[in-house]
Amino acid sequence: MERLNLSTSLSLFLLQLLLITVYLFSMSSSLKIGETCSSSSSSNSACDSGLSCQTCSVNGNTRPRCTRIQPLSPTSKVKGLPFNKYSWLTTHNSFALKGAIPAIGPAIIAPANQEDSITNQLKNGVRGLMLDMYDFNGDIWLCHSFGGQCYNVTAFQPAINVLKEIQAFLEANPSEIITIFIEDYVASPQGLTKVFNAAGLKKYWFPVAKMPKNGEDWPTVDDMVKQNERLVVFTSKSAKEASEGIAYEWRYVVENEYGNDGMKAGSCPNRAESSPMNTKTRSLVLENYFPTNPNQTTACSENSAPLVSMLNTCHKAAGNRWPNFIAVDFYQRSDGGGAPEAVDIANGHLTCGCDNLAYCKVNATFGSCDVPKLSPPPPAAATQTTTENPSLSNSSFANMDVRPVQLQWMLATVLTISLLFRL
Ligand SMILES: *[C@@H]1O[C@H](CO)[C@@H](O)[C@H](O)[C@H]1NC(C)=O
Ligand SMILES: *[C@@H]1O[C@H](CO)[C@@H](O)[C@H](O)[C@H]1NC(C)=O
Ligand SMILES: *[C@@H]1O[C@H](CO)[C@@H](O)[C@H](O)[C@H]1NC(C)=O
Ligand SMILES: *[C@@H]1O[C@H](CO)[C@@H](O)[C@H](O)[C@H]1NC(C)=O
Repeated sequence: MERLNLSTSLSLFLLQLLLITVYLFSMSSSLKIGETCSSSSSSNSACDSGLSCQTCSVNGNTRPRCTRIQPLSPTSKVKGLPFNKYSWLTTHNSFALKGAIPAIGPAIIAPANQEDSITNQLKNGVRGLMLDMYDFNGDIWLCHSFGGQCYNVTAFQPAINVLKEIQAFLEANPSEIITIFIEDYVASPQGLTKVFNAAGLKKYWFPVAKMPKNGEDWPTVDDMVKQNERLVVFTSKSAKEASEGIAYEWRYVVENEYGNDGMKAGSCPNRAESSPMNTKTRSLVLENYFPTNPNQTTACSENSAPLVSMLNTCHKAAGNRWPNFIAVDFYQRSDGGGAPEAVDIANGHLTCGCDNLAYCKVNATFGSCDVPKLSPPPPAAATQTTTENPSLSNSSFANMDVRPVQLQWMLATVLTISLLFRL
């Protein structure tokens, strides 16, 4: 009797211990993709790094859940391929930030396309930046304007500020490569050259002479890193290739239509300035996927299943080439995997012949993939509408919800111990 009481109280004690452990565990644990989170930063239910807590009400997802904001590093599984064998997350109008403080004049009336600084974008794995540059106020400015003219109310900031952020990133990350697409309204002589020099970026310049002119492969990323030629810059002004050594984009890149015309499901026509998508003498392919009027509310939906669907459409239109750049607005917004997932899919196909970079094995032969077994979709799916991206349910990230498994083990261990004490 005495002995039984002892073991009963021991069991009770262990049960309490279990509850405390579970409580502490759930407090300290970070949350995986799809798990319910709280967007208030003081809360203990914070998402894992590489994820952010958000809803996507236009898709019916009103419960805050952890959502991806970072792609896998394109070179993480297969290293040393030519530059054109990787896909890079790209932000459209990277500089047009929501809530930007007007640098000049009382307000900025130009719409915003992104939410975080260039520095933060780079930190999250963005490697393609679309920058609109204008002569303005005796300098080169980043503007989102009209008629080729920058105004006080459309001027975001002097280009040098952002170029210096890029310089700092390249300096601190000696194996990273960044590509800039300039929508170029600069007419001042050597205007771009001066501002890139002033930002300390000329030393990273990838020379036009090394860019393939007839659809050949680019130099390898290893070579670009070794030569420290880690900044690829394209301009929309053809004359600057000869006058300033800045590559004229349309000699090297094809792009699909942008804005609403580029979002019609099932078709991926080239934009007016570009050669047809299947022009193989252009080694690089860029997929635009954002509406004519940037919309922070609908971006989470657009950057989800429809983006992946267009990825497949553009792959076919480009002569079975996966895009090297995937350009979106509000790149952090989605209902789960978003633009980072689309980039992982492209990199899976490009680098290892798998449906997702997450399935690639390190150093394995092309086409040998480690596809995770289908698992129940993450908790998010239960309440979701039919707009759920099916590719998410068998993405590797759907399988990353390890907490219940860990809890099961903990429970089993504690029960075993208490049973042992009982005996
Ligand atoms: C633009 O801003 C500058 C500096 O604040 C000011 O001097 C100039 O008058 C403004 N231009 C217009 C057209 O408002
Ligand atoms: C964004 O889209 C929503 C839903 O279609 C619409 O109500 C809203 O007016 C749009 N906002 C902008 C700035 O266009
Ligand atoms: C993959 O190959 C590289 C180069 O041969 C080697 O340095 C690296 O250790 C390999 N990684 C694995 C996981 O086998
Ligand atoms: C999901 O799995 C199906 C069946 O295994 C496969 O056909 C499909 O390509 C996968 N989708 C992605 C995005 O990996």
